[in-house]
Amino acid sequence: MKNRKECSGNGVVLRRMLRGSVRYFVICILSGVTFTALELIIPQILRLTVDSVIGDKPVRLPGALQSLWEGLGGSEYFRAHMGILAAMLIGVGLLSAVFRYAMNLYSSIACETMVKTSRDLLYHQIERLPWSWHMKNATGDIIQRCTADVERIKTFFQEQFVSVFRIIVLIVLSLACMVAMNWRLSIIALVMFPIIILYSLLFHNKIRERFTDCDEAEGVLSTIAQENLTGVRVVRAFGREEFERERFEAQNQEYTNLWVKLCYTLSQFWAVGDVTSCLQVMLVVVFGSILCVNGDMTKGEFISFAFYNAMLITPVRRLGRMISEMSKAGVSVNRLAEVLNAPVEEDAPGAKIAPMDKDISFAHVSFSYETGPEVLHDVSFTIPAGSSFGILGATGSGKSTLLLLLSRLYAPTKGKITVGGVDLASMPAKWVRENVGVVLQEPFLFSRTIEENIGITGATAEEIRAAAITACVDGDIRQFAKGYGTMVGERGVTLSGGQKQRVAIARTLTQKTPVIVFDDSLSAVDTETDESIRKNLSERVHGVTQILVSHRILTLLGCDRVLVLEHGRVKQLGTPEELLQQDGLFREIYQVQMAVGEEEPA
Ligand SMILES: Nc1ncnc2c1ncn2[C@@H]1O[C@H](COP(=O)(O)OP(=O)(O)OP(=O)(O)O)[C@@H](O)[C@H]1O
Ligand SMILES: [Mg+2]
Repeated sequence: MKNRKECSGNGVVLRRMLRGSVRYFVICILSGVTFTALELIIPQILRLTVDSVIGDKPVRLPGALQSLWEGLGGSEYFRAHMGILAAMLIGVGLLSAVFRYAMNLYSSIACETMVKTSRDLLYHQIERLPWSWHMKNATGDIIQRCTADVERIKTFFQEQFVSVFRIIVLIVLSLACMVAMNWRLSIIALVMFPIIILYSLLFHNKIRERFTDCDEAEGVLSTIAQENLTGVRVVRAFGREEFERERFEAQNQEYTNLWVKLCYTLSQFWAVGDVTSCLQVMLVVVFGSILCVNGDMTKGEFISFAFYNAMLITPVRRLGRMISEMSKAGVSVNRLAEVLNAPVEEDAPGAKIAPMDKDISFAHVSFSYETGPEVLHDVSFTIPAGSSFGILGATGSGKSTLLLLLSRLYAPTKGKITVGGVDLASMPAKWVRENVGVVLQEPFLFSRTIEENIGITGATAEEIRAAAITACVDGDIRQFAKGYGTMVGERGVTLSGGQKQRVAIARTLTQKTPVIVFDDSLSAVDTETDESIRKNLSERVHGVTQILVSHRILTLLGCDRVLVLEHGRVKQLGTPEELLQQDGLFREIYQVQMAVGEEEPA
């Protein structure tokens, strides 16, 4: 609840992302502003030097500075000690270099801190989001949000945000100095600014569109490359190399064309920008010269004015880019807010743990995924504690869905699931998952050693070894040169399908749960190994409720009771012997598998 309140609105999201980095941003902004203010002193020193030290014009300085100048001996003194003016220039230059250094340093520290906070926030949030959220969102997109979007916000803060303050100070102070020296020339200098800001804004919107096109094309290109690398076996097996190469080349060409298009726009931007800047300089030089010749402006003022004018052009040109980048960063903040504001998985109020080594009952359970029709219809059955329960059903009949409900990864739309009479929905999700060990239909192994993969639950070396022996994979592991220390490839490529399944079984066994679910987890091992694993399980793992989804009749015959699912409905339910007496899928499968003669009932 608290979390949801906290996350309302993108402003709040931004504030959370900036937690810990605000103080660095403040130092950075103060340093930037000081550095800019110091830079603005230099044209004034030049003005004084030209007008009053080299020339003989009276000195015009604000209040205390005028007294200081006079106190030191006025223009005469400085004429005799020109070194002081040079030292002042060097001093101001050095001081502004120090502040510039601090600005850059703290800008990097602030932005990196913000990136770290954002990634931590996102990762923390993603870990707490429900399974259904993960099913709805593509992995690539989530990764893109955690990397590219965070990076885009960082770029905005690093390159634009701090500059905003600097540019405001620069514009305000420069204009104040310019107006103080000559208000008429200031108006001429100002004429071009709106034009510069407008064209730069228009261009940057165009550039942003082109960049987005390039980004998208790059995404497609890397997906093609990634698919070809991961699916290399399929490509080779079907002789699709030529086709895939042409597909890659076409996309590569498209990507290159988009970049060239972007470069055209960028070149036009810089060319138009240079012309407008030249116009601005030219206007100031021409009108400034006229004013100078007519005696309405001193030479020193003219030089100083030209300096301020030149100092202003680049930042003003950047204002357009800044506005454009701000909207780009805004899109990224939105994308992060979608993740950070997504409702996290929460237990029912007052959720309490209850023993899980009891009878499991599905009572009139119906379920439909958020998208799509109902996949389970009024399913009811009971699994006695400590028994083995088989589930048989055609593909898509809802077997895995049943198991997802039992793990509380989804909740039934109708009906309820109870363990020992206690509703699963009234227990904490974490507790349920700690007590229901699942061997997934498609086992996933981490790119770590076999030992780390099995011992993910924090099991000791002995426990890992014992689980591997029960899962009949110890022998295979020992054959590897590095034994349990063998690294499993990115997707477990160094292991065969059957080995991966057995490592996954061993991993679940180390969890020592009162309920173990095997979702077709022995499909890739031969009948003999399947039998040995089941024998080991019955000998070594006592009192555990086993739920086995399988298409192998031998496995099902070994179960105490079997459920036959058909299109999400309970079609048959009973002991294997009872089911053999009835017409239905169970007997059909029995007859087909026996006729093939692959398997003999034990
Ligand atoms: N995340 C999901 N969103 C929407 N529909 C889904 C989702 N997962 C599964 N389904 C649909 O639910 C139905 C049941 O799927 P389920 O995975 O439970 O079948 P299954 O019996 O385990 O099949 P198999 O034997 O092939 O593993 C299918 O029609 C499937 O398309
Ligand atoms: Mg399944």
